[in-house]
Amino acid sequence: MARHRQSTKIKAEQKNPDLPPSQELIPCEGCSVVHPPVFIPTEEQPVPPVPFCKVKDAPPNCPLRKFMSEAEHLELEIGPGMGRFILAHSENNSNIQMIGIEKETVRVAHVDIEARKRGITNLRLVCGEALPFLIACVPPSSVEKLYIFYPDPWPKRKHHKNRLFQKNFVDAVWACLKPGGTLNAVTDHADYFRHMLEVMEDEERFSQTEAFTRTENERTDFELRFTALGMEAHTASWQKK
Ligand SMILES: C[S@@+](CC[C@H](N)C(=O)[O-])C[C@H]1O[C@@H](n2cnc3c(N)ncnc32)[C@H](O)[C@@H]1O
Repeated sequence: MARHRQSTKIKAEQKNPDLPPSQELIPCEGCSVVHPPVFIPTEEQPVPPVPFCKVKDAPPNCPLRKFMSEAEHLELEIGPGMGRFILAHSENNSNIQMIGIEKETVRVAHVDIEARKRGITNLRLVCGEALPFLIACVPPSSVEKLYIFYPDPWPKRKHHKNRLFQKNFVDAVWACLKPGGTLNAVTDHADYFRHMLEVMEDEERFSQTEAFTRTENERTDFELRFTALGMEAHTASWQKK
């Protein structure tokens, strides 16, 4: 119920005529993995549609792919949620082009509104599933830093297969990262963290480096919630060789 109220509020706010417009929409031609980088709401469609991945590779002329390949310093966050990190990080680093890939439409809409309120222009949001997006859309060796904060831990053993951080995810991340680029992960969940370390242990294509650090305003919404409850934030970074 609370979720429904929040979604209604966000939808109403998107139509606020006093807000600056969303960032220009970059079409993703032929590839339906991605719809709006930043969604432009209309009366008929106040929140972005969740797209389905139907293709294995983005066509070479895909404007979104071209946009990413031309960015000098490209960084990507998977599952930004309500966007505390991605908004602050984009603001703190005006020289980078930040991309957020989030599957929940209302969260995308919320981050879009915040970015518009704060006049952030170096952030693009993609509404969709992270793995097909990494595989099909992100140009090879284009990303300098990839972040994943508090990914869904799927705590029950029978659900572990749903965890995003698996070998196929690491393969996709490796392909997207520039040599020397980093994968940066944070979780409160000790078992998931152990799982991440195990997945990366045998990886000869990466070396574990000193865990990345952030400014106070880049701590995520989940992080604030969990650390307030006394839970530790497990952090790790790996560098593509
Ligand atoms: C537990 S929340 C954490 C949100 C945020 N990173 C934070 O730390 O506050 C996980 C987020 O990842 C998103 N997510 C989960 N799996 C995803 C996937 N496969 N592709 C894109 N987003 C995903 C969820 O919708 C949710 O917003």
